[in-house]
Amino acid sequence: MEYKIAILISGNGSNMLNILDACKKGEIKSKVVTVVSNNPDSSGITKAKDFGVNCRVINSDTLKNKNDFENYLSLHLKKFNVNLICLAGFMKILGRKFVKKWNKKIINIHPSLLPAFKGLNTHKRAINMKVKYAGCTIHYVNNKLDSGEILDQEIVKVLDTDNENSLKKKILMKEHKLYIKVLKNLERNNG
Ligand code: GRF
Repeated sequence: MEYKIAILISGNGSNMLNILDACKKGEIKSKVVTVVSNNPDSSGITKAKDFGVNCRVINSDTLKNKNDFENYLSLHLKKFNVNLICLAGFMKILGRKFVKKWNKKIINIHPSLLPAFKGLNTHKRAINMKVKYAGCTIHYVNNKLDSGEILDQEIVKVLDTDNENSLKKKILMKEHKLYIKVLKNLERNNG
């Protein structure tokens, strides 16, 4: 199946750019039809504009009411016939109603080996716990934070010399590969 993908971001957008590149190179058949940021100052949105993909900022600071934000978002996604939402550093928790409406159509990337280290500051917590292996996970989004069905994971070895930053870099490199792998598998497995 070839998806019409929306990528939702809040920040840097390196996963987003990597997915856009993979589409351009034909590594994945799906198309990114829009990139949405809830943060007008995200550097990712500038990168998306430079890439030439449709971009939209739906500012979650001015739209304080979660329902309003999600209604605008849904309308925008419907307009582009989106059938897969890829969260890539999207720092807002989506509400129950939105998640139900887009059931099994939202996937997220998380920089830990779930179910370990749900939530924020995963790298710091992993370093503090002196874990020997860390990694990243792509999962479906459900009503509980970082708890939906796991699609795939990648592992990195944590060295004694690693710190929060070096671990972040190592995991991010794996994230980029993993997102493309998961998208390819979804395309293949869904016809
Ligand atoms: C990644 O580490 C991702 O796992 C997490 O947020 C970060 C986003 O990085 N959810 P980028 O914006 O794709 O560079």
